[in-house]
Amino acid sequence: MTTKNVIARACNCCNAAMDLDRRRTLGGVLGVTLSSLFACPAFASGHGERNPRPSVGDRLAFMLGANENRTIRPDDVELGSTPILAYPKDPDSGEVMASRANILAVVRLDPDSLSSEVAEHAVDGVVAYSALCTHNGCPVTVRDPTKTKLVCNCHGSVFDPANRGVVLDGPAYRRLPMLPLRLESGELVVAAPFDGPIGPPT
Ligand code: FES
Repeated sequence: MTTKNVIARACNCCNAAMDLDRRRTLGGVLGVTLSSLFACPAFASGHGERNPRPSVGDRLAFMLGANENRTIRPDDVELGSTPILAYPKDPDSGEVMASRANILAVVRLDPDSLSSEVAEHAVDGVVAYSALCTHNGCPVTVRDPTKTKLVCNCHGSVFDPANRGVVLDGPAYRRLPMLPLRLESGELVVAAPFDGPIGPPT
């Protein structure tokens, strides 16, 4: 299922105002737009028998933009840039596992800034986290002015990607789970499942 198909299905359900071109402008607008989709019951995974969550060996693929669905390589992720939103991609079927629960924020950090746990699961400073805010489920799409933290535009929660996604400022109180990565054939590959629960506490 492509990203556009997922969006279209969600629109049919909840009539969220969607504009794919606008969605390519990341930030607050994206936060509001995607967060409206997150409330939609149709915006869920439908990937048959496969584990619908990121699985070991999955590649990461761009969620948006000119490179949509293309596999991400470490060189695609620039130090200090806006988080790249991504989905896992099945290496066998080529299917992009597009669902609200699978949206990832991929960033590059100074390798010297990483905690030992994060360094173990990073690729040359590139790390991946669930982009589903643990406060109320908005997408975490921006960085703070220092370009080292992840910020949710909905209510301002700040997370530290160099230290397992811990909360630096609320209202969220649970860290963002990290998705361990490894390098394989020059591509970013999922090395293990999320290291904690995704999204808001239920
Ligand atoms: Fe992210 Fe509220 S949903 S801070």
